[in-house]
Amino acid sequence: MILIFLGPPGAGKGTQAKHIVDRYGVPQLSTGDMLRAAVAAKTPIGLKAKAIMDAGDLVSDEVVAAIVEERIEQDDCAGGFLLDGFPRTLPQAEMLDAMLEKKELALDAVVELRVDEAVLIDRLRSRIAETEARGEEIRKDDNEETFKKRLGVYQEQTAPLIPYYEKQGKLKVVDGMGSVEAVSAAIDAILDEFRGS
Ligand code: AP5
Repeated sequence: MILIFLGPPGAGKGTQAKHIVDRYGVPQLSTGDMLRAAVAAKTPIGLKAKAIMDAGDLVSDEVVAAIVEERIEQDDCAGGFLLDGFPRTLPQAEMLDAMLEKKELALDAVVELRVDEAVLIDRLRSRIAETEARGEEIRKDDNEETFKKRLGVYQEQTAPLIPYYEKQGKLKVVDGMGSVEAVSAAIDAILDEFRGS
């Protein structure tokens, strides 16, 4: 199963990805996590990406696509994978199409998590509070100003992927406003239906 999770920052992509990993046994490929790991390890990519990520902008299409291409060649992706946060621009979507075609793989579905902006900002505030309560470091891009910038970047550069995948007949829209469990159940219903179980 090859899946994409699409949705604005805070929509619950990472939260629901954990559920997919547990239920379907496919790995979660989060470009945000991969880039944060590169930043923490101070790799050449990480050193370039840090300022871009901290400002809430997007890392270049070529860099992100190369990271994904390398990752999907690993053994654990042989039975499928879940892309969380990639693609995020039309050129990335076209690069992914080309990558999959070259490997004779096909995308099964794109799950779009729809959540109102006011709820996204509430979730950001909760995430900041919970992270602080655990005594952990808050993500540099998790403050209200940068979060609003990320929402704008999503509308401008990522939302055009919705009609792109609609045209391909791959788009499945999920109401992401309910509880974590309700959203997981809605995703399961879609995936079970399309897997014919
Ligand atoms: P990335 O790490 O992908 O961040 P994001 O897309 O902005 O998403 P978030 O992690 O903020 O939110 P999420 O949707 O995963 O929600 P979560 O489950 O955490 O990207 C970070 C940066 O990396 C980008 O800005 C860019 O610079 C760079 N980057 C990454 N990919 C790139 C690419 N392809 N191209 C270029 N640059 C790229 O949930 C949020 C909160 O809400 C949590 O606290 C959670 O507990 C809570 N929550 C979740 N679901 C629910 C629910 N149903 N009810 C109540 N609370 C909920």
